[in-house]
Parts: sequence; C-alpha cells; structure tokens
Amino acid sequence: MSEAFRGRLAILGMGYIGLPTAVAIATRGVDVIGVDINPATVAAVSRGEVPFVEPDLAIAVSGAVAMGRLTATSEIPEADAFIIAVPTPFNEDRTADLSYVEAAAKQIAPRLRPGNIVVLESTSPPGTTEKVGGWIGDLRPDLRMPRDGETGADIFVAHCPERVLPGRIMIEIVTNDRVVGGLTPRCAEKAASIYRLFAQGEILLTDAASAEMAKLVENAYRDVNIAFANELSLISESLHIDVWEVIRLANRHPRVSILNPGPGVGGHCIPVDPWFIVSAAPQLSRLIRTAREVNDRRPHDVAERVVAKAQRFRAPTIACLGLTFKANVDDVRESPAVEVVGLIAKALPEVEIFVSDPYVSTLPGPLSGYSNLRLEGAYQAVERADIVVLLVEHEPFKAMRHTRLGGKVVYDTRGAWR
Ligand SMILES: NC(=O)c1ccc[n+]([C@@H]2O[C@H](COP(=O)([O-])OP(=O)(O)OC[C@H]3O[C@@H](n4cnc5c(N)ncnc54)[C@H](O)[C@@H]3O)[C@@H](O)[C@H]2O)c1
Repeated sequence: MSEAFRGRLAILGMGYIGLPTAVAIATRGVDVIGVDINPATVAAVSRGEVPFVEPDLAIAVSGAVAMGRLTATSEIPEADAFIIAVPTPFNEDRTADLSYVEAAAKQIAPRLRPGNIVVLESTSPPGTTEKVGGWIGDLRPDLRMPRDGETGADIFVAHCPERVLPGRIMIEIVTNDRVVGGLTPRCAEKAASIYRLFAQGEILLTDAASAEMAKLVENAYRDVNIAFANELSLISESLHIDVWEVIRLANRHPRVSILNPGPGVGGHCIPVDPWFIVSAAPQLSRLIRTAREVNDRRPHDVAERVVAKAQRFRAPTIACLGLTFKANVDDVRESPAVEVVGLIAKALPEVEIFVSDPYVSTLPGPLSGYSNLRLEGAYQAVERADIVVLLVEHEPFKAMRHTRLGGKVVYDTRGAWR
C-alpha cells in the first residue's frame, strides 16, 4: 500500500508552477504555505489573487485562501515537506544559473527536522538534486542526508519535474503523468506521497538524475522537431513552395508528424532547457545545439522577411499581431514575437508599426525604447496597415474576418489564417 502524505507543506516560489501546485495540494485538504521573495506576490496571494493570467487559477486560489488552506509569506515556515519551484534561467555562457535553487535550499536548511521531504520541481541539469542535498547537508551536519545505497536518512530529497503547458496548467497539473526521482528509492517513494494527493496521471518512480534528464530531453525533443519545421519553412520559401502544404501532405504518411513552423521558440522552458543538456555534454550534443541555433535565429529570419516586404512601399505602415510567447496566455517572457517586433522597429525606424495583443496592455521592456511602435487594438491596427504580420495565433486574431485583410500584404508566421 502506498503511503499517504500528511502534514503541512511549504512551496518556495509562487509563480506559474508553484502557485498552481500549491492550490492543487491545498484543495486536497493539506495546509499549504506559499513562500515568495517578492512582497507583491505574497500580498496578492494572501488576498486570494493571482499576479499573472492562467485560466481557472484565480478562482482556485481565491477558494483555497478563503478556506484557510493556502496562506502566503516571505518567511520560511516549519513544515513537513518543502517544494522548491524557483526559476532556473541560464547564464551568459548558457550554463544553468542555479543561484535561485541554491538560495532556496539554504533558506530551507535551518528549518528542517528529521522526516522532512524536500522536492526540487525547478527544471534542472543532471546532478542538481544531489547538490540540493549537499547544500542542505553542509548547513545541517546534524541531519543524515540520503546517500546512494544507504538507508536511514533523516531527510528525503527528490526531483519532480513539471511538464504542464501554460494556458492548460490547471488541467494538466492533475492529469499529466509525473516522474519522481529520488536520491534514494525511499526518497522517491516519500516524494510520490505528495503527488498522489492530487495527480490522476501515473506516478513513475526513478532516480533523481534520470528524472532531471527526462525533463530536459522532453523539451529538447520538441525543440529539435520545431527546428526541423522552421528549417523546412526556409527551404520551401527559397524554392517557392508553400511549406504548410508540404507539411499537410507529408503528415498524411502514417509515421510522419511534422510540427508547425513559427516565428521562433519562446517561453522559458524550450529555449532554455536544451542548453542544460548541451552544457552537460558539449561534445556530444551537436544536433541539440544546432536545433537551438536554428530556432534562436528564427526571429531574425522572420524580421528580415517583413523588412523586405516593407521595401516594396514608399511609406508603409505595419501591424504586428501578438506579443506573447504562445497563444491565449499573457506571458511575454522569452517571446519570439517581442524579438521580431524589436528587430523590425530597429531596422525600419521611420516606419510606423502598430502592435496589438489582447493580453498585453503595455509594451514589454525590450520594446519600450522604440518611438515608432504603438500599442493599438487589432482591428484599428489592421485597418491602418499595409503589411499585417501575424505572430501569435490568439483566438481573436484567428477569428478575424479575411475581408479585413483584403488588399494588404499578409505574413502569417503561424499558418493560422490558411
Ligand atoms: N512556467 C512553465 O510553464 C514551466 C513549466 C515547466 C517547468 N518550469 C520550471 O519551473 C520553475 C519555476 O518556473 P516558473 O515559471 O514558475 O517561474 P516564475 O518566475 O513564474 O516563478 C518563480 C517564483 O519564485 C520566486 N522566488 C525566487 N527565488 C525564491 C526563493 N529563494 N524563495 C521563494 N521564492 C523565490 C520568484 O519571486 C517568483 O515568484 C523553473 O525551473 C521553470 O523552468 C516552468
């Protein structure tokens, strides 16, 4: 019989991952304390509010807070389990920046008591969970940390990577299969007891390094396949062939499933995680590195095509539709659309460019310095534009009447208006 988690649980990081996880656990009757270093986030969650947009999260947070199951603080509380869901960006040299994870582990250490569980959810290079155990062990020599092949540890340390899709987090956090990798099998079993509270998918137990690598591999797989589609787009264009038609036809083969090209790869998972593999085995990761380079170059390819189209006009006006990194979310982090718009604005400083996104109310930081950019409603932007560039397939854009686009040069980077 699998053991059930009982007790209080603290989650460090009330972001896109930590907050939905906190709610999922709190609504199963466990007292959850959300911890964040950002006072505005702590204040928002304490009021039962969500500081970002994610469907169905707001109602769940307000309910969990109203029931007294979810609270928020900037102090590390005493708890029976700690989940670390803090950022793992990369450094200039594209190695993983583990400073947030290290800080979180060191903050937890003084609070730990024998029997506590520590789960790293942040996406991390192989060996990071072991480092978390090491950082804690250095600060708490009184505690026996888990070691391979040994039993009888005081603290149980594991990695449980997150694979939810923004925009569907509240569904997928429950339905996805979960990989739980422990520093020892006992650690994995202990950590799994937390996820059994709410996960309806299968819980797959393994070792910590395999769990870390599996998550990175998932995103590298996506990245390589998107790079393939993006490269096909360039090749097809140079041969005057419609890439969407080619992909549609090729995908009728029973064992072919080519992804869609786009303006680049965004968010802070797929463009980041493959680099953690490359930096772990630089000589052996040639395909993964090349895919990253193809996708990183993609916003430049798209911007160059828009600039070339603009040369055909004497005084063109351009409408760029979409700024977020994917459809129907408000997240502009690592958004290729933002990069494309910035590159066009820089290359065409005399050209008026209207930018429209139903989820964005102010121009993101990287675009704030361009005087030729203006946020505008989609219909007004399209009406006034000679060139319309679709960068994100938000539903309102997809629903836009084709008649509105008549007589304009349309560059649909997502294939949404086909
Ligand atoms: N967003 C996604 O779709 C997604 C999907 C899978 C995995 N991940 C991974 O999950 C992790 C978290 O990502 P996110 O999108 O939730 O990030 P986020 O930026 O939305 O949230 C992270 C939060 O952690 C807080 N924080 C930083 N250091 C802290 C500390 N020491 N103590 C407490 N709080 C601290 C920040 O203030 C922020 O609110 C990353 O490793 C990411 O790669 C994210």
